Amino acid sequence: MPLLLGVNLDHVATLRQARYAGTLDSPNAEPCPLDAAWDALAGGADSLTVHVRGDRRHMQDADAFRIRAEVPLPLNFEMGVTEEMVGIALKLKPDFACLVPESRMEITTEGGLDVITGFDRIREAVARLQDAGIRVSLFIDPDLQQVAAAQKTGAKMIELHTGCFANAVGDELETELSRLIAAATAAHASALQANAGHGINYTNIVRIREIPHLAELNIGHTIVSRAMRIGLEAAVREMKTLMAPYSL
Ligand code: PXP
Repeated sequence: MPLLLGVNLDHVATLRQARYAGTLDSPNAEPCPLDAAWDALAGGADSLTVHVRGDRRHMQDADAFRIRAEVPLPLNFEMGVTEEMVGIALKLKPDFACLVPESRMEITTEGGLDVITGFDRIREAVARLQDAGIRVSLFIDPDLQQVAAAQKTGAKMIELHTGCFANAVGDELETELSRLIAAATAAHASALQANAGHGINYTNIVRIREIPHLAELNIGHTIVSRAMRIGLEAAVREMKTLMAPYSL
């Protein structure tokens, strides 16, 4: 199975919100996440991710619904485990929902879900979403206890948090990579689909490819950044090329 690329478009909305928060229907409100979604499709994205946060700091509800209605790619709805977000997901009906922790002070999602502590709440959200036909993934740190707890919630997928790996250097990087390899191996043994995301870029993708059993990578910041130099379609295509298995 080829490794799939989910393109996270949140930072397109971040740039728009920097100037046009509150005036989304203005013809000047740019850049447009829906246009970006079409460009990602043209560049070979396998799916799209939008995260409507509780504080609406980047993607707005209307962005998610427009992209869902218009762009023929699987949609991954990243969401906090709240009643409000479960309600939106049930209306939006994305193909996938990725449950993430959310705190108002963080710049971006900073750590994985603690599935052990929040088990009952998470299991209930997983059941409600999956009963509506939405496949659920839990964004967790590469920790074997979290993988085991994720499997017990009934979720079919996990997304391994690669943020610590992305920030590490030297021996620490090797340690983080080993944790990711162990967690992906455990997920596979428990019949959980293993995805990964956060902080993956055009350089560290080479090491990410050492992690076995990964089905999909969710990548945002580096692709949107690269798009400023070469355009989004080309930036997505470049990442897809780097993700393809190397020929011997
Ligand atoms: N996966 C999850 C669960 C995330 O929260 C994020 C960041 O929004 C990403 C993937 C993408 O991370 P990045 O923007 O660093 O590529």
